[in-house]
Amino acid sequence: MSYDLSHISSELTYHKENEGSVLYFEDIKLQTLAEQYGTPLFVYSQRHIQQCLSIYQKGLSSHPHGIYYSVKVNSNINLLNELHRLGARFDVVSQGELQRVLQAGASGQECVFSGVGKTDDELIFALQNSIGCINIESFSELQNLNKIATSLGKKAPISLRINPNIDAKTHPYISTGLHKNKFGIVAQEAYELYQWAHKQANLKILGITCHIGSQILDVSPLLEAIEKVVELAKKLQQSGIEIKHLDFGGGIGISYQKDGSDQVSAEAWQSYFAQLLKLVPKEIEIHIEPGRSIVGNGGVLLTQVQYLKEQGDHSFAIVDAAMNDMLRPALYDADHQAIELQIIDNLKKVYDIVGPVCETADFLARGKELGIQEKDYIALLSAGAYCFSLSSNYNSRLKAAEVLVCKDTAKVIRQRETFEQMIASELL
Ligand code: LLP
Repeated sequence: MSYDLSHISSELTYHKENEGSVLYFEDIKLQTLAEQYGTPLFVYSQRHIQQCLSIYQKGLSSHPHGIYYSVKVNSNINLLNELHRLGARFDVVSQGELQRVLQAGASGQECVFSGVGKTDDELIFALQNSIGCINIESFSELQNLNKIATSLGKKAPISLRINPNIDAKTHPYISTGLHKNKFGIVAQEAYELYQWAHKQANLKILGITCHIGSQILDVSPLLEAIEKVVELAKKLQQSGIEIKHLDFGGGIGISYQKDGSDQVSAEAWQSYFAQLLKLVPKEIEIHIEPGRSIVGNGGVLLTQVQYLKEQGDHSFAIVDAAMNDMLRPALYDADHQAIELQIIDNLKKVYDIVGPVCETADFLARGKELGIQEKDYIALLSAGAYCFSLSSNYNSRLKAAEVLVCKDTAKVIRQRETFEQMIASELL
């Protein structure tokens, strides 16, 4: 027996070998990578990333557009470099992310700077590096940027992020488009702020931005947001303000389930692109900032089973990855799939997969049927997005290594952290 994983990633396939089935990512046996580089190990598929980016590129090809990969999702500079080579620009939310992008070979001009709390130093750094656009989230920030741009003798390129009060129907922690969320500016207020900004010599209005949340599986809130943004653009144009681009925020959600029951249909994807192409006038560029849908299912986290333990009616697989490597299950109750690298049918049992961290929240997957023995490896799926980038040194655990696979070759794109690196900035 093996699973059909095509919903999650067409690059993950079981191949029959000897008596059992062995898991491949592109054309590489994952067991070999786990043995060669050790675990926990993040492995990414170059082909998956390229294919997912091209879905957006093709969907918008008939209209002037920009695809701004959201760096927070997975910020390894090798991936950024790869995405840049493939035509992506970047959405950054801190000076650190902007510096990563610059390091990866892109220019500040190819970046948009998002986030509610940019500091003076960050705004100065962005302007000095000719940032493409700064997405403004409040009148205070707008005034502050104006002051900074004036003192630097620069004209700051801006877009105001509107909060359309639309429920994205996603996890409350990653829903951003309601008035009770800290993000954006109420549309009516934004209209007034545009009029104010228009009069400032050191501000240059470029567009309107809107991002209502992440892991959105029902596209209707996205379609509604598109309508509201276009409506505001028309009002602004009527008042004499030129709008060069409309930025619709992050991408569509991905499937985390083995059976694909949470997969967004091809028709829904189609309606998303159709809405953008229908409503946005040709002379205005469409910008989007997808992340999860580009790298999420292009990554797996490999981990080794250390101990199997029975307790009451619970079976635990205690592995060498933990919540510090993959926080999503603890933080959002996210359901990542866990599968064997080599399938042994007769050992099947239902496990909670937990790490060694001293917290009950240290679970990576619960209630998963696996045929495993101690020292076997398993893969946690959908680990390309918001996994390494959310990782930490909690419990003084070293950060994992990362490997990028391209067909039958693998290259290390982050070495496993050493103890010396972990304590390097501490003073005795
Ligand atoms: N643009 C902005 C302004 C954002 O805040 C985000 C994500 C994106 C774009 C990218 O959205 P995507 O295409 O990935 O859905 N850590 C959470 C997700 C946090 C989302 C933060 N903002 C998780 O693991 O589910």
